[in-house]
Amino acid sequence: MLRVEGVTKKFGGLVAVDDVDVEIEKGEIVGLIGPNGAGKTTLFNVISGVYTPEKGTIELNGDPIAGHKPHEIARKGIARTFQTARTFGESSVLENVIVGAIFGTSENIDQEAARDIARTQLEFVGLDDREGEEVSNLNIMDRKLLELARALAADPDFIFVDEIGSGLTPTELDSLTQSLQQVRTDRNISILWIEHIMDAIMTATDRIIVLNQGSKIAEDVPESIRENQKVQQAYLGVDDE
Ligand SMILES: Nc1ncnc2c1ncn2[C@@H]1O[C@H](COP(=O)(O)OP(=O)(O)O)[C@@H](O)[C@H]1O
Ligand SMILES: [Mg+2]
Repeated sequence: MLRVEGVTKKFGGLVAVDDVDVEIEKGEIVGLIGPNGAGKTTLFNVISGVYTPEKGTIELNGDPIAGHKPHEIARKGIARTFQTARTFGESSVLENVIVGAIFGTSENIDQEAARDIARTQLEFVGLDDREGEEVSNLNIMDRKLLELARALAADPDFIFVDEIGSGLTPTELDSLTQSLQQVRTDRNISILWIEHIMDAIMTATDRIIVLNQGSKIAEDVPESIRENQKVQQAYLGVDDE
């Protein structure tokens, strides 16, 4: 469904993503981990159209998308959340999710339909009783759920989540993990999930891809990744935050 082949993205002399291959099938939850600066967010940005890769191909459901604009790629079925939650603080919870529906995969959607879709997603993540509140009133956990609802409102095939676990308590993280698993089970949406801390996604993913200094150094089931020497080295070899 999503096939990334030989993708390279440079910033000046720095090779942020170096000849990376990724394949994700419908309904899979794939983890993307690696130390700070490994290239995880840049890879997301390349796939979602923020950057054009210098090399490589990206296919979504058979169509080439490398170099396409972010809004075009969103229309084709990739929704995302951001490392720093990009909710619009002064608008309401419901309005934020309506935006997701309007810029999603359905073209020419009217306000009323967008509102219905938004309400359904808010119910799915458990924020339906907060729809009229200003986003700035929400705590971190609820903002993450709001971002998830907004991504779902786009009716995507894929959701990319970037460090959605950061800033959460272990209990909140468990709950968010369950929501993501529910997204897969109930909606058959594939998830590509970046986390800096690897423990967070060990239990929830089918497969984990590890980046280090732009390159893919491992790809395996979570249990094997935990024991992988190269991966352990990569995490030991950097000064982490
Ligand atoms: N817009 C940019 N301009 C220049 N360098 C960048 C830019 N974005 C990321 N980088 C660099 O690319 C590398 C990979 O960054 P990033 O993809 O954010 O890593 P990660 O998300 O794995 O922490 C880092 O060295 C970072 O400093
Ligand atoms: Mg990042």
